Amino acid sequence: MILSAHDTPIPMTSRKSGPLKGVANVPGDKSISHRALILGALCVGETRITGLLEGQDVLDTAKAMAAFGADVERLGDGEWRVNGVGVGGFAEPENVIDCGNAGTGVRLIMGVMASTDITATFTGDASLRARPMGRITDPLALFGAQSYGRQGGRLPLTIVGTKNPVPVRYTSPVPSAQVKSAVLFAGLNTPGQTQVIEAEATRDHTERMLAGFGAEITTEKTDAGNIITLIGQPELTPQDIVVPRDPSSAAFPVCAALIVEGSDVLVPNIGLNPTRAGLFISLQEMGADLTFENPREEGGEPVADLRARFSPQMKGIEIPPERAASMIDEFPILSVVAANATGKTTMRGVKELRVKESDRIDAMARGLEACGVRVEEDEDTLIVHGNGPGSVAGGATCVTHLDHRIAMSFLCLGMAAQKPVSLDDGGPVATSFPIFEGLMAQLGARITRDNR
Ligand code: S3P
Repeated sequence: MILSAHDTPIPMTSRKSGPLKGVANVPGDKSISHRALILGALCVGETRITGLLEGQDVLDTAKAMAAFGADVERLGDGEWRVNGVGVGGFAEPENVIDCGNAGTGVRLIMGVMASTDITATFTGDASLRARPMGRITDPLALFGAQSYGRQGGRLPLTIVGTKNPVPVRYTSPVPSAQVKSAVLFAGLNTPGQTQVIEAEATRDHTERMLAGFGAEITTEKTDAGNIITLIGQPELTPQDIVVPRDPSSAAFPVCAALIVEGSDVLVPNIGLNPTRAGLFISLQEMGADLTFENPREEGGEPVADLRARFSPQMKGIEIPPERAASMIDEFPILSVVAANATGKTTMRGVKELRVKESDRIDAMARGLEACGVRVEEDEDTLIVHGNGPGSVAGGATCVTHLDHRIAMSFLCLGMAAQKPVSLDDGGPVATSFPIFEGLMAQLGARITRDNR
């Protein structure tokens, strides 16, 4: 049995709810929050961050930045100050760095420290210790860093950083912003030009934020994909960062509103970077009543207010594999919407879901089946057969495998199912969306913690 990262599992149940009505102010973007703390730690001087996600994943990155020598302070709700050590200035941590549940945290930090003359050992919870790290240590070895992990390069893992990093031109074998970002971060303290080539575009927050902090970085779009070039050893300048709200968190109240009868929910100020917006395009193709109000730009990222209304007319669709990267974290909640739409929704090119916080294809397939939904899967595909609004039977306990997005997806499923949907452990929700229960209750959701 996998033991929970938090001390005791928190069983939860979600019951037929609604209508969901009101305004949902979701927390700050997880990807941008990790990067804001890390880049702040790489500047000499004070970076101010507002709207930081205070989920456990990001708090673990804040702790790690302090362990590498930055001065990190919480000033108030989502307000943080980082006094950094400069590029190449990381100090050797005195203890093991525990990144909890956060793949983004551990992989990006390994990238930064690999090109400095220090050694660090990383670990995490049972979910993170099961995830592949060879995809990071392979390119870091090209810079000259050595790594010693468990079989398959899994955590706990020690990286011996290199004193004399050599620049790298790396073609990423997997569509992963974490791999791309780890290579670019290692390139920061490397003389010369570091290049990453990605066949499929993945989220580009690292590139945008590095440019914002003053690094020289370009992206060339070619037939072979994006070629990203970073000039090493820049002097980064401290910034004031306003973190936009997370589209991956917005996905939960938006999708719940689409499937719960009579709902009308406004989710303001959502980051709509095109490398993250695949879910919303797919929902519109399904026929969702979803509108983008007040489109504008904030802090270098496109944002808008999302409005979602109950959409009984939604139909199953084919999601093309080239869209997968732009909605990689949203397939669990999309499969919940698909179960409430009419017809078959086919998600192809999704094998990366098998190495997320859990095997998300397996976790969703088993839970949906237990709730009476017909599902097909292969290594790289998930197919959900929907029978229309209100058709999901429910009445099962779903296993969350320490995975926040699996937990929130099944809680949303329960809001529109005939019988309650329970979770073995809702505790993981706190990694990315600590205010989820309260926010959803305010909209009209019926979620309870079950004392066993
Ligand atoms: C992230 C990248 C994605 C995503 C994760 C956050 C990031 O992972 O699933 O939640 O912030 O770079 P991969 O890069 O492994 O696809």
